[in-house]
Parts: sequence; structure tokens; C-alpha cells
Amino acid sequence: MGKSMRLDKFLTEMKCGSRSEVKERIRRGSVCVDGQPVLDPGFRVDPEEMRVALNGETVGWAETEYYMLNKPQGVVSATEDSLHTTVVDLIADSRRKDLFPVGRLDIDTEGLLLITNDGALAHRLLSPNRKVDKVYLAHVTGRLPADVVERFAEGLTLKDGTALRPASLTFLKNPEEAGAAAEVLLTIREGKFHQVKRMFEAVGGTVVYLKRVSMGPLSLDKALKPGQYRALTEDELSRLAGMQSQKAGWGGV
Ligand code: URA
Repeated sequence: MGKSMRLDKFLTEMKCGSRSEVKERIRRGSVCVDGQPVLDPGFRVDPEEMRVALNGETVGWAETEYYMLNKPQGVVSATEDSLHTTVVDLIADSRRKDLFPVGRLDIDTEGLLLITNDGALAHRLLSPNRKVDKVYLAHVTGRLPADVVERFAEGLTLKDGTALRPASLTFLKNPEEAGAAAEVLLTIREGKFHQVKRMFEAVGGTVVYLKRVSMGPLSLDKALKPGQYRALTEDELSRLAGMQSQKAGWGGV
């Protein structure tokens, strides 16, 4: 036996309209279940077993959805916003209306963002106790101290006194010329507000470009240009599922 749910709930979750719009459509006779019109919004359907159609078109069912987005700049990490496009607006192929981003990237940050409706997974990835690695590529201007790698590794204290966990910093490009940006990879295991920008600020640098390249077992697909997305692969999903049994702890990078 699969699970059953109300017909109006099924249609609402599958983006067929608000709950009241959907009820109205059912009452008007626009909805069939297994080929038979159903006029009762409370009619129980088993989404795995039954075929629901609205105006003759089958409404596909997806209980959970998982997308990898390369977040572009100028888009907000939210589900709704009166001013800006949201990361959820970008997922044009989604079936479900309850998708949300797992964590936030600043409006001017690019890169890997997982978009799903799986609350349990989001909790696992964001829980501070799990210490999930997040890797950022940053371009940083300003004179960084010679011991910046050690200071980040020891656990930096931000200007407001916030003590951070150890973070791993690698220089990809460390220009000699003053004013040119250094390119670095930074791995952090917590997600405080504006954390990467504030870490560099604390040592006299300014982040002028920021992109997340990985989060836990997920790495940004290089084929995705900013604004593009794709469904997670089976392999990525099983790596996320495997995280459940992973021990948290600082194992070095
Ligand atoms: N740290 C930041 O400062 N900004 C982000 O978007 C992510 C991490």
C-alpha cells in the first residue's frame, strides 16, 4: 500500500494553483482520477498508484526533488521576494511548489546551491554539529598578513568577537602587484552570516568575488553556467544519503 493524500493537497503541492483555486477546479469537474471525474476535494488519492488529470492532462507526481543550481549574482537565496528573482524562481522544471534553498548565499555570491523540498536533508547539511565542509573560491584584494593561513587554521576571531572554528585556506594565485586580487580556496565548517567576507575583513582584506564550489559531498558541476541548474544524479543522492552515517569532526583537508 502506498501513501494516500487528499486530492486538493496533491494538486496544490504539484503547483496546480492555490488550495482554494484547486478546490474550485475539482468542484467544477476539471479533475479526473483514473479516468473518472472526482468532485470531492477531500477524495483520497495514492499518488504512486493513481493517475490524476487536470483538464485532461496528467499531473505528474514527485514527492521529493533535488536540484543543483549555479546561483548567479543578483538573485536572492529565498523562496519569495517582492523585489528580486529568487533561486527557487530559477528552477523552471520543478513540479513541486514547496522547494527551498539549503542555506543562503549572499545576493552577490555565485555557485553551488542545493534546492529541494527535503527538510530532513537540509537539516543534516546545515546542522552546526555535523560540521559539513563548504568550499569557496574567493578573489581578495588588500594586503593579507603573512600568517593568514595559520590564523585561519587556528580559528579566527571576527571583529565583533565571534570565535570561529578552524578553516583551511589555500592560495591559488598570490599576486605581487599591489591592488591585484589574490585567488584563494577557503574551506569552512560553519555558516555564519557573511562569514567568508567577514573573515577576510578581519585580516585586512576585501572579498571582491565569491563563489561556492562545494558543500559536503556535492561539488558544483562545471558544466553549469551561472543561472543554470540540473537534477541531482543518483550518485550524488546516494552520497548525500551516506552522510547520515558519517562522523562529524575535523579530519584535516
Ligand atoms: N560567506 C559570505 O560572506 N557570503 C556568502 O554568500 C557565503 C559565505
